[in-house]
Amino acid sequence: MSTSFHALTVKKINKETADTVTITLEVPPILTGEFQYIAGQYLTFKKTVNGEEIRRSYSICSAPYEKELSVAVKAIENGLFSQFAVNELKVGDTLDTMPPMGNFKITPDANAQKNHIFYAAGSGITPVISMVKTILKEEPKSKVHMFYGNKSAADTIFLEELDALDAANDNFELVHFLSREDTGNPITNGRIDQSTCASIFNTYLHGADVDAVYACGPEQMIMCVKDFYTNKGMDKSKIHFELFKTSVPTENIAVESGEVISSNVTVVIDDEEYQFDLNSNGKNILQAAQDQDADVPFSCKGGVCCTCRAKVMEGTVRMDLNFALEEDEVADGFILTCQAHPTSEKVVISFDEY
Ligand code: FES
Repeated sequence: MSTSFHALTVKKINKETADTVTITLEVPPILTGEFQYIAGQYLTFKKTVNGEEIRRSYSICSAPYEKELSVAVKAIENGLFSQFAVNELKVGDTLDTMPPMGNFKITPDANAQKNHIFYAAGSGITPVISMVKTILKEEPKSKVHMFYGNKSAADTIFLEELDALDAANDNFELVHFLSREDTGNPITNGRIDQSTCASIFNTYLHGADVDAVYACGPEQMIMCVKDFYTNKGMDKSKIHFELFKTSVPTENIAVESGEVISSNVTVVIDDEEYQFDLNSNGKNILQAAQDQDADVPFSCKGGVCCTCRAKVMEGTVRMDLNFALEEDEVADGFILTCQAHPTSEKVVISFDEY
């Protein structure tokens, strides 16, 4: 897995809503292998604004079988990258792009007969549409239910494409929820929240067996979905979610109490080693490695994407937050370095282990 950036040319820009565009990138033949992706993964872009390098991750909205590489970007207020992408980027420009990453993904099985349930709100649709298209095309015996919340029809990203998929596939049920427009149905008027989860389950799923749940969007919606299915006794391994950001401010996370450990940390990346001393209550390992000029991968720095993922080869660390790694990855020693602090006197971290 490469964490290097490549300048990809913008092939197409489509306006989806007043504040959202889909950007399709040209992948040169020499990079085709590196930019192969699994439905649900994301790309990280790098751009320098006012002398400062910023990185932002966006989910891929095309499906692998379409042989395209597209992301959707919604302009957010004061968003340095999103405002540029929506208002200034042109066809023919290049974007410094890191190859696809991410654990929120689905690999279709042509013979599976599953019941997949998707919840999305706002721009949380971007990985979800890629996953839904992939299942409908490559896992045709499975059923797909999708519950999609927006303010209004005009704000609904991919509205026409999704409605066309709904009309063309008997095994796809799409239900729109609108919070600022009357849908004519009391269940779908409003947001997807705690009470709606129960209505959805009873009204649209009829208590059916659910094989997997996927949720992407605001934290509040994700937590409602997660709690609902956890309370129903669903195994955690079947509930998948992706947060775009978290409301937990990392600087407010309490430093673990107890003695402060002075650690000697070695970071390995691209077969190069960087060694430094770091206290258990000091900077995170990603930041400390960057201070040594190590070219370590990162994007959100908030424990939400998994761009900064690395493996503990020796010693122990603790993480402030983890909204991105699966339990089995943590058990295998993987960490989010932007959230990690050493807790043993010697720690070796490798970015070269996958
Ligand atoms: S940079 Fe996103 S989780 Fe660390």
